[in-house]
Formats: sequence, structure tokens, C-alpha cells
Amino acid sequence: MGDRDKANPELIPDLGFIDEKPEAFGTGYLNIPADYRLMVENILDLSHTDYLHPDTLGGVITGAKTIVTEDEDSVSIQWKSESQDLPPTLLAPYQAIYPNNDPVGDLNAIVRWYPPSILAQDTGFGPPGTVEDPPIKGLMTHIFTPESEGTTHYFYSVVDDFIAADPSMKEVIIGGLGAVFATEDSPMLAGQYERMNGRDFWDMKPVLLSLDRAPAKVRRRIDELVKAEAVSA
Ligand SMILES: [Fe+2]
Repeated sequence: MGDRDKANPELIPDLGFIDEKPEAFGTGYLNIPADYRLMVENILDLSHTDYLHPDTLGGVITGAKTIVTEDEDSVSIQWKSESQDLPPTLLAPYQAIYPNNDPVGDLNAIVRWYPPSILAQDTGFGPPGTVEDPPIKGLMTHIFTPESEGTTHYFYSVVDDFIAADPSMKEVIIGGLGAVFATEDSPMLAGQYERMNGRDFWDMKPVLLSLDRAPAKVRRRIDELVKAEAVSA
């Protein structure tokens, strides 16, 4: 989809962090039967992890404090969660680094959207009291490229301190994320897309919750970009 002649390399965001620790870097790919904008919104709303992934990634976000910021080039949402019981998938690698700690930690995650559908996710974990600058970092990219009206290429990558501490974690983390995305996110997104049945998002008069501030801003920014491109065509 799209006009190749309009591709402008100057607009590619700086994702240089993915090169900084090659030993801790891994990638994955999925084809998702849904509109790319639903996928962007899913990542911008990390609270979905508590409901959609309760046994793996979830359990630490719903009570988080959120801060939404934006500039000309991006929209960001930050989630700060203190003294949370960490989910099993985080607890094991976390305790491998902090062996004498209890199963409680702080989380500070920032998800930054770049037009049209690129997300950089910086997730920090650490012992209680470190929420402002947690010592363990996981940096992810989520790149959504529309393949057709209702299918999207999903390219994701991870640069993760858990992998840096234990290289065998690469397969666990990349494989685990792929399984969660494929069996939990993908069916939910496909169901959402099918239920919309081709209707315009705003025509459906969605009720927006406070946690929808960032996704709604991004949806409007994408609308504006698509409109501007249509006018200039
Ligand atoms: Fe998810």
C-alpha cells in the first residue's frame, strides 16, 4: 500500500538504540488480520496487558500513574507503577539479577509514537524506590506496516538487559512475546477490526476513558496526515 515516490527517508525516526547492545538484540514478525491503527492504539494502552495477558506480561499497569506529552514529531505516554507484584515472566529474570529481593518491584515505561505507525517502548524495572530510574531496561520497537485494508505486517524488536545478563533469555523473551502477540493480541485485534465492520472510528462515537488520551491524540494525528496527503495528491 502507499505511494513509494512519497517515501521520505528524512522522516524516519532515530531508533539507533537497537544497535547499542547487539548481544541483547532480537527480532520477530507477525502478520495480523487488523487495521494498523488498532495495533498502534493497543501498544499505546499498556493497561491492556493486565486484562489480555494476565498470566504473562500483565498485573502491574492498571494502577500506574500516566503522563501524556506530545511534540511536533511524536506523542508519548509514560506509565509509573510502584511496589507491584511482578508477573512470573518478569520475576524470574529480575530475581536472577537481584537474587535476594522479594517479588515486588517498580516499573517505569514510556511508549513513544512516531508517524505514521512506529512505536518505541522503553520499559524499566527495578527494586522498590527506583521508579524514576529503574536499573533494568528493555527497549522495544513495534513497527506496523499496512499490507492491505485489513492486514498488517508487525515487525518487533527487543534490546533487553535480561538478555544481556543471560543470552539464553533471548529465545525465551522473543519466543514468549511472539506467542503472546499471536495468541492473545492478534485474535483480540482481529475481533475488534471485524466488529467495526468498515465503519469510521469517530463515526462510531467511541466513549473515551482517561487512559485513551494518547491513543486518541495519535488517531487524530494520523487522520490529519492522511488528510494532508490526500489534499496534496
Ligand atoms: Fe498485548
